[in-house]
Amino acid sequence: MKHIKKLIIWGVSLPLFASANTPDNSLPLTSSHAADIIKSLYTEGVGYTIPAREAQLIRRVGGDPVYGEITFSALQTLLDDLQLSKHDVFYDLGCGVGQTCIQVALVTPAKAVGIELSKTRLNLAKEATDKVKKIYGYDICPNLEWRQEDISKTNLSGATVIFLCSTCFSNELMQKLVNRFSTLPQSLKIISLRQLAANNFFTLIKTYNLPMTWNNDTPVYVYQSKTATPLDKKVKP
Ligand SMILES: C[S@@+](CC[C@H](N)C(=O)[O-])C[C@H]1O[C@@H](n2cnc3c(N)ncnc32)[C@H](O)[C@@H]1O
Repeated sequence: MKHIKKLIIWGVSLPLFASANTPDNSLPLTSSHAADIIKSLYTEGVGYTIPAREAQLIRRVGGDPVYGEITFSALQTLLDDLQLSKHDVFYDLGCGVGQTCIQVALVTPAKAVGIELSKTRLNLAKEATDKVKKIYGYDICPNLEWRQEDISKTNLSGATVIFLCSTCFSNELMQKLVNRFSTLPQSLKIISLRQLAANNFFTLIKTYNLPMTWNNDTPVYVYQSKTATPLDKKVKP
């Protein structure tokens, strides 16, 4: 179990900056340690409000700027079942302020990629990533990628798990995403808060009811590619 060392000066307890080379800062962490770290990275309500021009940009591409998050415990339940390895790549499409990807980078050996159109939210994700290194000494950067892009157009190469906190995504955006996912050559799990429209490519393998920041009992649907059919076979009639 790893603990943050504290320095007590005049009765004030300060986190001691861990050296980047101590054996103490190896990853992945236990979920309870990661939960403490993530809690300290964000101020409450951060990222909920974004400038009007960013909200307009998101609406223009058919997205929705409304904010809400999957809770740490809900994502941990999913990660405990997924058992990601270093060969996995977890995408959060609409990653907001980035706590899902940071959790994946802290508690699993997988790579995490966060895609978000709001620059304000993405900057908060990058700041949180820097804090993990500066305050706690864990360098998660090699396993993290942040991209300011439209989720319906972004490059999904290497994805093995795609997470969609999709409650507010329009039917049109959901359809565009399923169309994109169905052209990917690799086998894939999709975790979505909205059911995917009927399609021939993904099978529903599990449903959960998990806590989100707006509701304690939100359905979460997990899909698996039916087959990892090569792209060239999929496009031929
Ligand atoms: C409900 S929040 C989810 C945040 C995070 N995934 C989580 O679960 O904690 C959805 C995010 O998707 C972003 N979004 C919506 N449509 C988008 C699009 N077309 N391209 C990029 N980001 C989009 C919004 O700006 C928002 O930050």
